[in-house]
Amino acid sequence: MRSALRRCSALLLAAMTGVHAESLAQTLDMYRAMTKPDKGKESFPVSNNNLADVMGVLRYVHQEVIVEHVAGDPGRPSRKYNINAFGKYRMKVRNPDSILKDPSKLAMPGFGRYGAFDYGVGTSLDMLQGVVANGDYVGVSKEDSPQINFTHPWYWFSVDGDCPNLPWQCVKPFPGCEAEAPPTKPQPCDPDGCAGKQDKDARNCSASPHFIDPSDTETARKCCLHYSSHPDQVIMGGLCNSSVKEPTGEIGCVYTYEELGDKDFLNIDELNGITSMPCGAKGNRKCTDWKDWRLNCYDPKKQFKKRYHCEDCHSAGQWSVSVQDTSFCVEYDLHPYCQETQDLCKDPRCMALKPEDKELGLPFWKGKCEVRDNQRRAEAVAGYFLKDAVKDSHWLVDKATMDASPACSSKDSSVPNQCTPNPDGGPYCTRLFGGVCSTCYIPGTDPPYPDPKSQPMCPFTVLKEKGNTPPTETKCADDDPLKLCCLYGIGSCNVTGSDGSDSELTAAGFLNVARMMDNKEMVKFAGRIVSGRGGAIKNQGGFDSAVYSTWHYQPPTNPQEAWTNFETLINQSSDVDWHPSPDGPSGKPGSNAWIWILLALVVLAGLGFAAYKYRANSQQQARQQLLPSDSSQVQMRN
Ligand SMILES: *[C@@H]1O[C@H](CO)[C@@H](O)[C@H](O)[C@H]1NC(C)=O
Ligand SMILES: *[C@@H]1O[C@H](CO)[C@@H](O)[C@H](O)[C@H]1NC(C)=O
Ligand SMILES: *[C@@H]1O[C@H](CO)[C@@H](O)[C@H](O)[C@H]1NC(C)=O
Ligand SMILES: *[C@@H]1O[C@H](CO)[C@@H](O)[C@H](O)[C@H]1NC(C)=O
Ligand SMILES: *[C@@H]1O[C@H](CO)[C@@H](O)[C@H](O)[C@H]1NC(C)=O
Repeated sequence: MRSALRRCSALLLAAMTGVHAESLAQTLDMYRAMTKPDKGKESFPVSNNNLADVMGVLRYVHQEVIVEHVAGDPGRPSRKYNINAFGKYRMKVRNPDSILKDPSKLAMPGFGRYGAFDYGVGTSLDMLQGVVANGDYVGVSKEDSPQINFTHPWYWFSVDGDCPNLPWQCVKPFPGCEAEAPPTKPQPCDPDGCAGKQDKDARNCSASPHFIDPSDTETARKCCLHYSSHPDQVIMGGLCNSSVKEPTGEIGCVYTYEELGDKDFLNIDELNGITSMPCGAKGNRKCTDWKDWRLNCYDPKKQFKKRYHCEDCHSAGQWSVSVQDTSFCVEYDLHPYCQETQDLCKDPRCMALKPEDKELGLPFWKGKCEVRDNQRRAEAVAGYFLKDAVKDSHWLVDKATMDASPACSSKDSSVPNQCTPNPDGGPYCTRLFGGVCSTCYIPGTDPPYPDPKSQPMCPFTVLKEKGNTPPTETKCADDDPLKLCCLYGIGSCNVTGSDGSDSELTAAGFLNVARMMDNKEMVKFAGRIVSGRGGAIKNQGGFDSAVYSTWHYQPPTNPQEAWTNFETLINQSSDVDWHPSPDGPSGKPGSNAWIWILLALVVLAGLGFAAYKYRANSQQQARQQLLPSDSSQVQMRN
């Protein structure tokens, strides 16, 4: 009775002060590039690991795993690091209040600062100190670099685990270490080796039983770190016990994830097309995997048997680049101008290369420096895991996870808020980019956003996301759709029409349809342009997917150019017949054709009736009954 009363008054208080009772746990999908475990059943839980959003995990593989001329031993028996799959983890994250409420510790709303893990070792001193001081936490890093080319950032995550300062197993030459050497020595273990996480001496450290200072590198390679708030407790890691449904933010429980099965892994050899390519001396069987294709590919034209070679490739070097023939098929290679220069995709020498000179290997991986190709790959991965939730929308994030997470702009005044917009168009936060609250701005407001170069443009739907309300003074500088602001639903746009069926056939109309983020509408719009110019669509599927590539969930950076590209795409489309002949197989029948079809039908019907009459009464002259005079007569005779 009393506790019920107390709960009731707590609720009342919450309602009165506007502090909502909503959980602080965020739901989001994280991905890993990894070796698929047998039947999709993991034997080790994900902790002391790094994960990423879809774009982030692709960028990792594209930059650090598959580039042939820097991938190491050409005789390797598998893709580098044995990576053969992407795994998807549906995570719930609830970090400790000590991070959530301290702007100096918060990387993005709800997340601490990211740290890299190598062979189970957290190699970032900042992260280890953070875990000691604040307890276990999930970190994030907002990534945006010329390693790839995209319209918004991507994200990497770190999840700390048991004894995060020591490797999975001891590393030689640590005294007494018998374990097999890891492929590379994690940074603190070089050159003297490390104890392993499970070593008894490390867990019960005689040298420093309450070890809490990771900058003491000598002790840090012998002893597990402890929490400063619980000095007798070895850091246990943020993964909650399996019975826990919702992470609490206490030590030992800041994230959970749904157990993985087969469906949570995407085979990279299926994704990139290897398993549908021909293998064997005659090419009459399908390749089974990366190794089979590499060694036994059927490639009579030697399309895939080459890689780049770079001599003297360093800042002061001569950069003599050549293409070398190989005896095996190469999954992917990127020109050294784009791979080894400081500015990567943005290096002027890389940008000057023709597409066919920039990359080698499978078509799936081509276009590392192209927005559209990165989008295509990311959609292939997201589409595999998220199915209908992202179909035909360009989305890479499941709306269900966005809805299950709290609003980005918290009303709790004790939480530092990076997502409270000013009337100048920002900063807003969206979860659409990678599932986390990521800042963006609305272009074309009055006054304009002061620092647009520092942020991506918000997705069209940003104001529909939970809690995103513009300040009442917010207004657009202009109602011209080409200035983009009105497309967000602020004020109204000067444009005729409301969707693909009636929007004016201009750049303004194009943007008016683009903001609907519905390809069916854009196809209608494009179809009106085609028929207005006397054309006919002859391959609807091809046309639809070409149209799909013309829009995105963010507005185009250069609207006029986007419209010109759209028109050019239609004008040059091989899916359109610009001179449809009236009775051709592809054109719709013209009005003359209808008369011919009608006549033919009448004649056929007549012939059919005649045949019937002839059989029914052989004495009657078939010729007299050329046209049935009364159809009811036919029925009655039946
Ligand atoms: C750890 O060491 C302490 C003494 O430093 C000892 O009392 C304790 O029993 C040891 N614990 C284990 C699990 O070995
Ligand atoms: C998890 O379970 C173990 C034993 O089953 C227990 O010792 C530990 O305290 C639990 N951790 C948390 C955070 O509940
Ligand atoms: C990035 O892609 C855009 C659009 O495809 C293109 O205009 C730009 O030149 C690309 N940037 C780089 C550095 O390749
Ligand atoms: C609306 O757009 C039309 C055509 O682009 C233009 O002629 C007209 O002046 C605009 N109206 C306003 C109020 O800006
Ligand atoms: C497309 O074709 C139409 C009609 O032939 C022409 O008016 C228009 O300028 C063309 N647009 C582009 C971008 O090529």
